[in-house]
Amino acid sequence: MIANSTPAFLIDALVFDAYGTLFDVQSIAETVERLFPGRGAALSQLWRSKQLEYSWLQSLMQSPMQRREDFAAVTAHALDYAAEALGLSLAGPARHRLLDAYLDLSAYADAAPTLARLAPRPRLILSNGTRAMLEPLAAATGVARHLDVILSVDGAGIYKPSPRAYQLALDHLKFLPIRIGFVSANAWDAIGAKAFGFTSFWINRNHTPLDRHGPKPDAVLDSLAELPPLVGSV
Ligand code: LAC
Repeated sequence: MIANSTPAFLIDALVFDAYGTLFDVQSIAETVERLFPGRGAALSQLWRSKQLEYSWLQSLMQSPMQRREDFAAVTAHALDYAAEALGLSLAGPARHRLLDAYLDLSAYADAAPTLARLAPRPRLILSNGTRAMLEPLAAATGVARHLDVILSVDGAGIYKPSPRAYQLALDHLKFLPIRIGFVSANAWDAIGAKAFGFTSFWINRNHTPLDRHGPKPDAVLDSLAELPPLVGSV
């Protein structure tokens, strides 16, 4: 990073993805591994990929006859599929414990300090999650006190990366899209936000390759903590 006081990006407000960006979903994998020793990684990976796939498929399929379900429902369907595909039984308390793991995540250590350093600019969450999933989590992790509002894509009736989902944040903020910084650890989300017109920051903690289906994010960072110097912090 260049050591000068001029921020690289002029940003009036910041919009954050939730799962994997502010909230660490690793504890879900640990719960899965405790319930299914040796199969935890396989089940968590298939569960996560089916959760995203179903969110995108339901977005494409929706019609008056085919209603989109919320993220809690999609997440449950994805778990049921993944367990059956891997021959694992969700009988007894296992299914509830796994679904409840989404409500009991920790925030990344740099999440609250980064949000604090970005004040007094408006700071939002825009997530595929439901408000019932997100609001208790933000409160329990201490992130909520650094946020102005939590927006769920449920307000748009479609999942990210639909432009209609990103439009919710724009409608709320009423700044120029390019002056809104969108921050996500999910490459598809950072690409979707860039395609929408936001200035997009991809948090690539695991140094994975960038997906190829859309425009590149404006910057790729190793952690949330790298963000404030790029956009100017107090
Ligand atoms: C979110 C998930 C997709 O929208 O990371 O929070």
